[in-house]
Formats: sequence, structure tokens, C-alpha cells
Amino acid sequence: MTRANASDLWWKSAIVYCLDVETFLDWNGDGVGDLDGLIERIDYLAGIGVSCLWLMPFQPSPNRDDGYDVSDYYAIDDRLGTLGDLVVLLRTAKDRGLRVIIDLVVNHTSDQHPWFRSARRSPSSPFHDYYVWRDEEPKTKKADLVFPDAEDSIWCYDERAKKWYLHHFYRHQPDLNIANPAVREEIQRIVGFWLELGVDGFRVDAVPYLVEETGLDPHMLFKELRSFVTRRRGDAVLLGEVNLPAKPLATYFGDEPGDQLQLLFCFPLMQAMYLALARKDARPIVRSLRSLPDVPTEGQWAHFVRNHDELTLDQLTDKQREEVFAAFGPDPDMQLFGRGLRRRLPSMLDGDERRIRLVYSLLLTLPGTPVLFYGEEIGMAENLDIDGRMSVRTPMQWTDQRNGGFSPARPSRLVRPLPEGRFGSMAVNVAAQRRDPDSLLNWFERMIRRRREIPEIGMGRLAMVETGDHAVLAHCVELDGVSIVAVHNLSDEPRTVRLQLGDTTGCELTDLLDGDEVQTLEREKLDLKLDGYGYRWFRLQPEDAPTAP
Ligand code: NOJ
Repeated sequence: MTRANASDLWWKSAIVYCLDVETFLDWNGDGVGDLDGLIERIDYLAGIGVSCLWLMPFQPSPNRDDGYDVSDYYAIDDRLGTLGDLVVLLRTAKDRGLRVIIDLVVNHTSDQHPWFRSARRSPSSPFHDYYVWRDEEPKTKKADLVFPDAEDSIWCYDERAKKWYLHHFYRHQPDLNIANPAVREEIQRIVGFWLELGVDGFRVDAVPYLVEETGLDPHMLFKELRSFVTRRRGDAVLLGEVNLPAKPLATYFGDEPGDQLQLLFCFPLMQAMYLALARKDARPIVRSLRSLPDVPTEGQWAHFVRNHDELTLDQLTDKQREEVFAAFGPDPDMQLFGRGLRRRLPSMLDGDERRIRLVYSLLLTLPGTPVLFYGEEIGMAENLDIDGRMSVRTPMQWTDQRNGGFSPARPSRLVRPLPEGRFGSMAVNVAAQRRDPDSLLNWFERMIRRRREIPEIGMGRLAMVETGDHAVLAHCVELDGVSIVAVHNLSDEPRTVRLQLGDTTGCELTDLLDGDEVQTLEREKLDLKLDGYGYRWFRLQPEDAPTAP
């Protein structure tokens, strides 16, 4: 892979920003965010430098799982706007150089979807086989339960059908029978519809569950979907939510050049990162990076610090998970399902901005594509008064005014209450941070600009660099003779390290951030001082190449 075709594989150098229209900005004053509000803030998003928006579900839904229970795949939840508004949004985003991907939730429908309503009425319904039915209740293993607080089986007896139907998630989300070719055709119709309207791809929900119990080969399904998508739009992307260990996870990229999902969330590394932070020891990250299989030419890891669900730690051992809980969420109310945390990063790090910046600096240098969750750029925290996973899905904090500038409605009408106190909108908001050159928001803008100037990080080959200090992580990404070296001190103490860089004869070193004096580079070694939670980024390139500004 070279820099020359970077724009063909745009997802390799993208910065993705996930948001929910419903909690971003309420333009019509009804207490619910809407498409008009998002359109209004497209320039804000383009200004921070993100290059691709991921919109959480916005289709009609009874909203019993925050829209992940779709009742009509071809329309817009009327609280949010119309299809016309969506097209204005897509056009505005495109004009500002932003791509837009949307959630594709087809593991299941809402039980209010007309397919399920018809399916349960009679086995002779043309939609009956759109779902997975059994005459007797099959056994459920504990590990199969995604929401153990609400369900004790993944099968539910339907009084009307007099049969059991499969639901990996809540019982009001019956699983679609993907083995049925008619269902796969429906999925293609849905995908084709949104591509035609101008979206740039899909975040595919709940990937590993899609084929369970149906006997279908998952890889065959994703090859088929990818080839359909590519026929319709060559550069559309599929980003998969596949929470599996590294090896089985990477099989979803498919065969060279990558014929299934182009982007996969890197759940194993995210979890290792929290363990490393808790221990102030980089080794879990080093081990995890080393264990990641190579990605095919078109494949890419999507890295994240936080998503909209519980921060799952299910791939850690019980003991490791307890360490992370003890460090970042000791109170049982901060934990969820015994496997995750329902806090955002700033509160977990007790508001320590040095450490928060360290974590996002790391995110931006990991070989892959960074995915941000709205509000991370200003250091928003959660509201634990809201139940379960919704604690981190509070309204965006724009100002220190009423409802954080999210909505002019009465607070009781808001889609969700904002947090109060230390991380509330009086203290943490976009307006104040815009005016402060040292704010987290302005730091993010500068760092994202820098990251976008370094496509090597998204496209190059990773190598780990010896630092001689377990608290200090150093890694290097190389492409076309240019190496980017990133160094992160996970401890709160200043550190001095000697990096073993290999033969650097004839190379020039540029500090890519605003660090202190450039260090001495003697043949193979680089001596470096780092502050507590300090980080440095360098470019190593042949002496005669143009230097980075
Ligand atoms: C994964 C989504 O991230 C989550 O929010 C949702 O509840 C489930 N899939 C079911 O769609």
C-alpha cells in the first residue's frame, strides 16, 4: 500500500465521529435532537477535523433499545425529521468533505416491524420464515445472554405463533433468519436504498450473532454483502461490530485484498488498553498489538476509547477485569452486566487532563482508524442517574446555558437528562472551550489536524520499539521509507528512556508535536525525556526528503 492510493481506501486515513441525532442538537425545541440541529453543527464537526460521521439508528422505532429496534428500514423517526432532511444533511456533509455512514441493524427487527407482526400470525405468512422458530425451547447458555439483567433465555414463547422465536438481545428484538435467501435480499434492498440516498457505508450491528443458530457460513454472508455493496458503490465501507478475540475477529476481513468487512472495531486492544492504564504498565498493549494478525490490503482496525454501550471488558480474565473495575469504576453502580463499565473516560480518570490527553494521543497513533464518540472532544462524562448503558448517551454540551445549549425545551421534556456538577454543562461545554486556546477541544483540533497529515499511521507497518521501561510504550509505523514513532508514558512520574530504533543512518528526526528540544539521535538510539503521562510523536525520514511543517 502506498500513499498514492490513500484516497481510494479512504477509511484507512479517516477520523470517524459517532453521534446520535437524538442527543446532538434540538433545533425545533421539542426536547429531542433532530436532523436540522445536526445540519446546523456540520461546520463544527468539519472544524474539529473529523472526516466521517457515523450516525446511530434514526429510523422509526418503538425505541425500546434506543433505536436498535427498527420498525421501518426505509424511513426516518418523525421526531428527528424527514428523508428530505437527511438528504440535506448528506449533501451538506459532502460539501464540507465529510463522509457519512449509518448503522445497519439487521440481526433483528423490532417486534413491531410489519414482518414480525405478520410472521407471528400464521406459519403460512410469507414472513414467517423471516424469523427463527422452534417448537420446543432450546437451551440457553449463560454466555449467550447479551442482556443478563433483563433476559434469562434467548428464546421467547409467542402465544400467537405457539412457537419459540430466537432473540439474542431483548425479547422485543426477534432475530432475522439470515439463512433465508429472501431475508438476505431484503437486506440488500435496505443497503441499496441508503446507498442510493448517498451514505458512504454502514456500521454493521451485532455481526457474530447474525448467523448463529441458522447454520449459515458467516463468511459467505459477508462476502455476498460486500460484493453487493461494491457493485453498487465501489468505495462504500462496512464497519463491523464483532467483539471477538483477535484471531477469530480478523477472519471477518476475509481473504486478500479483504473481501468481507473493511473495518473491524478492535475490541481486544481497547480492553488491553484499560488494563494497561489501570496498571500504568504498557505490556498489555504491547502483547495485544503483537497478537493482532496482519490486515489484508483493504482491511483496517477501528480503534476506540469509548463507544455508546457498556465499556465491555469481557475479553479480560476475571482478575484483570477486577483490576480495571477497582481503578476506574469501583462502585457497583458504575459497572454493568458484571463485564463492563458505564462511565466515560474523563470521570474514570478523575478529570486528570494530562492523562486524558495521553489516552487520546495513543488512540490517534494506533495503527488503524480512530473512532470518537460525540462529546469526547470536550471531555464529557456520564450521568449515572440514567439506567444502564444510556448513562453515556446524554445530550451534547454546547454551552453553559439552559440544558447545556442542547435544547430550549423544559428540562422535563429532554430526551435524557444532562449530568450535573463537575462534568456538567456549566463546567464542560463547547462554547467555553472554543475560547480557551489550552482547552481539550482546541488540543483535539490540533492533534486531529496533525494525525490527518500522517497517513502512514493508518496505512503503514507496525513495529514495537524497545524502551527499557515497562511504563513507556513506543511504537513505530513505517510506510515508503518514512517511520512515525510514538512514545507514551503511562505513569504519572517523569521518565527518561532510550529508544532502540534500529539503523537510522542518514535519517532526519522531526518532532511532530510541540515537544521540547529535539533529542540527540545517535545512530540507533534516541534518548528522550517524558513528563508524567507525557507523549511524543516523531517522523524519521531520509535527510533529503521535505520536512514536515
Ligand atoms: C449492539 C449495539 O451497539 C447495542 O447498542 C444494541 O443494543 C445491540 N447491538 C442490539 O442491536
